[in-house]
Amino acid sequence: MAGGIANHLEGEEALDALAERLARARRVTALTGAGVSAASGIPTFRGEGGLWRGRDPKTFASREGFRANPKLVWELTRERRELMARAEPNRAHEVLAAWSRRLPRFTLITQNIDGLHERAGTIGALRLHGSIWDVACALQCEQAPRRWRDRKAHTRRLPPKCIYCGGLLRPGQVSFGQRLPLDAALRAGMAVDCDVFLVIGTSAEVHPAAGMIGQAAQAGAFTCEINLVDTPASAIIDLALRRPAEEVLDALETRLLAFEAQAAP
Ligand code: OAD
Repeated sequence: MAGGIANHLEGEEALDALAERLARARRVTALTGAGVSAASGIPTFRGEGGLWRGRDPKTFASREGFRANPKLVWELTRERRELMARAEPNRAHEVLAAWSRRLPRFTLITQNIDGLHERAGTIGALRLHGSIWDVACALQCEQAPRRWRDRKAHTRRLPPKCIYCGGLLRPGQVSFGQRLPLDAALRAGMAVDCDVFLVIGTSAEVHPAAGMIGQAAQAGAFTCEINLVDTPASAIIDLALRRPAEEVLDALETRLLAFEAQAAP
């Protein structure tokens, strides 16, 4: 499907065509990344000004990275937690939340850990990488659950201690080399089988999430990427919209609502 007719459409025409597809689709799935939260003031992971500031994320967001410098990992987590606590959902989160409530079979898969999709009112968001507010025992002690919520961990002396065994506590989001939460991964795997698959604000560099784009295309979905720049996924998608997610989703929602009003008896 890559390079299909829609790929040659520009601007308004492309939005019209995509909105029509969305209105007709039986099942729509969206995969989001850090770019959807950029307009909420949360820097993306990669690129200039990104959280990792040019460092290799695997050095820090991995077990080995944590073992080498737990204090630094917690300092970066504290920075991120404080920023995310202050951030508000933007128009991109709002539109996706409205779709989760209105479209008959809509699934939102997110790599984001900021919770803004949920705060915008999204129903059933599948969080592949967990939450910034979760923690885990670095020693995986027997007494502790696998992960638990601790919104205050970053306010204690860093690195904080596990309340169960006194060993080190680590941030509980999924880090490189770890398995995805099983339930979210299974449901996401089923949702790639859809009519329209939207890839929004992700660099499409981190697997297994990035692999879902190819899987959706293979399952026959019409795939659309909404991002400011090209990514490794761009070569296989049907339509690229090179504008901010919050603008594109707002424009699509206006069109969708107009279609729905026309179709209403
Ligand atoms: P990245 O930081 O890798 O990519 C963000 C993408 O959003 C880039 O491709 C930007 O061009 C794009 N972008 C920025 N502003 C945008 C806007 N307003 N509208 C649309 N696109 C915009 O973030 P992710 O792809 O989410 O994993 O990163 C994937 C994973 O890598 C994260 O979940 C995290 C990280 O390491 C873990 O923590 C396991």
